[in-house]
Amino acid sequence: MTASDDPTETDGPGGPTWADGSWEATARVVDPSGLDRERQVEAALRPRRLAEFPGQTRVRDQLALVLEAARRRGTPPDHVLLSGPPGLGKTTLAMIIAAELEQPIRVTSGPAIQHAGDLASILSSLAEGEVLFLDEIHRMSRAAEEMLYLAMEDFRVDIVVGKGPGATAIPLELPPFTVVGATTRSGLLPAPLRDRFGFTGHLDFYETADLVTILRRSARLLDVRAEDAGIEEIAKRSRGTPRIANRLLRRVRDWAQIHGQDVVDLDAAHEALALFDVDVRGLDRLDRAVLDALCRRFGGGPVGVANLAVAVGEEADTVETVAEPFLVREGLIVRTSRGRAATALAWEHLGLAPPSQAAAYQASLLTPDDVGRFGT
Ligand SMILES: Nc1ncnc2c1ncn2[C@@H]1O[C@H](COP(=O)(O)OP(=O)(O)OP(=O)(O)O)[C@@H](O)[C@H]1O
Ligand SMILES: [Mg+2]
Repeated sequence: MTASDDPTETDGPGGPTWADGSWEATARVVDPSGLDRERQVEAALRPRRLAEFPGQTRVRDQLALVLEAARRRGTPPDHVLLSGPPGLGKTTLAMIIAAELEQPIRVTSGPAIQHAGDLASILSSLAEGEVLFLDEIHRMSRAAEEMLYLAMEDFRVDIVVGKGPGATAIPLELPPFTVVGATTRSGLLPAPLRDRFGFTGHLDFYETADLVTILRRSARLLDVRAEDAGIEEIAKRSRGTPRIANRLLRRVRDWAQIHGQDVVDLDAAHEALALFDVDVRGLDRLDRAVLDALCRRFGGGPVGVANLAVAVGEEADTVETVAEPFLVREGLIVRTSRGRAATALAWEHLGLAPPSQAAAYQASLLTPDDVGRFGT
């Protein structure tokens, strides 16, 4: 793949301009969810085997063991659940699992399976050993979920024939196969479904060193010359997320290109990231708006996520799944049983003095219980 295949060639005033001239005004350069038009370039940057997958060492080693053991036994491995925030490599790992097992992969997603019948037709056409990738598995309908329990446990599906009182269920045996489920919200999965996965891998944000490895590889694949200092700067500002790292690399590459530079260096990284409003910690405008509202409007909290979302003019879901996990991980906010609260670091990051009273009050709200319950 060369740089000219990349659909994200230049940038418009509010976001990427695609090759066809359109641009997405609302797209955030640090949005961890993939933009539709980005899929093609993403696919080209995905590592294909476990050995070329940097980071997530624990999950990777555990998965390697599960797959190798299954391979030696000559049976399909346990079903695998991959959970974690967007852009950390769940889809990539699902593809890798199929590649390592040397099996075909069938790809579908929770929202695509609204009726049990949709799932029945997929299940009944699976070949022995095939991998069924169910993305966004937490968004499947109840009826489909129940059918999946049976299929995962007993490799059986009940096909309903006829309607009303005369309807009968005909059991259909399925060949053994492997479900790989992916979810950004494992908390929303019903326990019976979660229990049917023999192996759960929780993906966490990446260390900067791993992002550097990922970026070096991406630069090579995109035919971009990059200096270590430039790559490191991009890695530091990528919110621990490979998808964002790859995207920022393309934006810095664009900046360098437009300014007649044939190499991505520290200067290009600084200039391009400043242009896109990505600060030294990788926070963008939404993150800073959330922190700002929390500190200035709500005195540091605690405040409910719904109120916070209204204050920044965003959906509560966006604040909760996009801004919050990163802010929590950076130690800028904490989740308490009474809502979100700013830490002293947050005040500092905004260049404000933390009110000492508020800090003490917040600390008193945090009990060890909160830590367990809210996963902070
Ligand atoms: N460990 C990794 N090494 C190299 N590239 C990676 C890694 N993890 C993710 N990527 C890259 O990041 C991009 C996003 O990864 P992927 O699509 O697997 O994320 P995801 O967890 O499925 O996200 P979503 O929840 O939005 O579906 C891909 O282009 C992929 O190449
Ligand atoms: Mg995915």
